Amino acid sequence: MPVKVVFGECLSQIGVFAAELGASKALIVTGKRAMREHGVLDRMIGLLKPIDVEVFDTVEPNPAMETFKEAHRILRDRHCDLVVGLGGGSPIDVAKVAAALGNKDQTPAELFTTPTRIDGRGLPMIAVPTTSGTGSEVTPYSIVSDPENGTKKAANHPYLYPDVALVDPSLCKTMPRKVTADTGLDAISHAIESYWAKRSQPITDSLALEALRHILPNLRRACENPMDMEARSEMALGALLAGMALSNTMATAAHSISYPLTVRFGVPHGLACALTLPSFIRFNAPSIPGKVPRLLQTMGVGSVNEAAEALRRLMVDIGEPVRLSDLGIGGDEIPWIVEHGFSAARVANNPREVTGKVVDEILREVL
Ligand SMILES: [Fe+2]
Repeated sequence: MPVKVVFGECLSQIGVFAAELGASKALIVTGKRAMREHGVLDRMIGLLKPIDVEVFDTVEPNPAMETFKEAHRILRDRHCDLVVGLGGGSPIDVAKVAAALGNKDQTPAELFTTPTRIDGRGLPMIAVPTTSGTGSEVTPYSIVSDPENGTKKAANHPYLYPDVALVDPSLCKTMPRKVTADTGLDAISHAIESYWAKRSQPITDSLALEALRHILPNLRRACENPMDMEARSEMALGALLAGMALSNTMATAAHSISYPLTVRFGVPHGLACALTLPSFIRFNAPSIPGKVPRLLQTMGVGSVNEAAEALRRLMVDIGEPVRLSDLGIGGDEIPWIVEHGFSAARVANNPREVTGKVVDEILREVL
């Protein structure tokens, strides 16, 4: 994980890092309006001075390929030499691809192939997350929505790592409650999935469990009181650690199944992952006997069933739906979700073999 990470009230250092990266003109990639309304964008522009700034501020949640193309087009047309991703995972993912492509003639679509091929290094990139969940600031992944196929596609390449991640929890205090809940669940999914991923190893295990220690006691607090800066800070640290674990392991089946839930039914990403996570805890436990005790201990529960129930209870407490039917998804949709929920690399990374029948059963458990 080669990203230079700074944690704390560190946005003020962005000018120093941009100068270190040799920038003369930065493209800030961010989401629609929110960042401007809360003043963070204006503050960032001021902090980057004397570096010139262009802004691309129309990244939508779960961005489509057109958005990636547009960001790259603006980067080239305006002759920027640094990309800054500001916001949640979506703008940061778009910024990472634009930076990796840099001045090359490759298109974004060429990156979303398996395996991802990038013709040499692009431009430097700084990630500034304003949510606590996606971990995109420390991963080599970028995700594009593919509505035609009802799923998402991932790019995965070392050149997609940002050069610098400025993780400043104070930027999260204006995050709405629902976004806090959804992104917090994404961070929990990253921690648990990277812990049991086939590609996990002792270092990622440590990061994943430590992430849970920070997240689990603080997600309720951050949802109940948005200005609780201790809880916000713990959430930001937990999400960062979970992202660091994920950067080396990749996600597993819960993330894979989330893709059609988000693209077709509009379920927010973190919630879409967490919906099946309690069932996957029960399903995967027999395949990771050596790991279960430390997971239960970290979660403060005595059995696998209690762990699944604790997660479900947490979702209820932060106001999240726990059933597909609460989201308007009926049993007749399940075969379609099963068909579109197989991201091969993520399913293959699940510790226990997942078949269509298994996915069908798990979805019916949460119907
Ligand atoms: Fe995720």
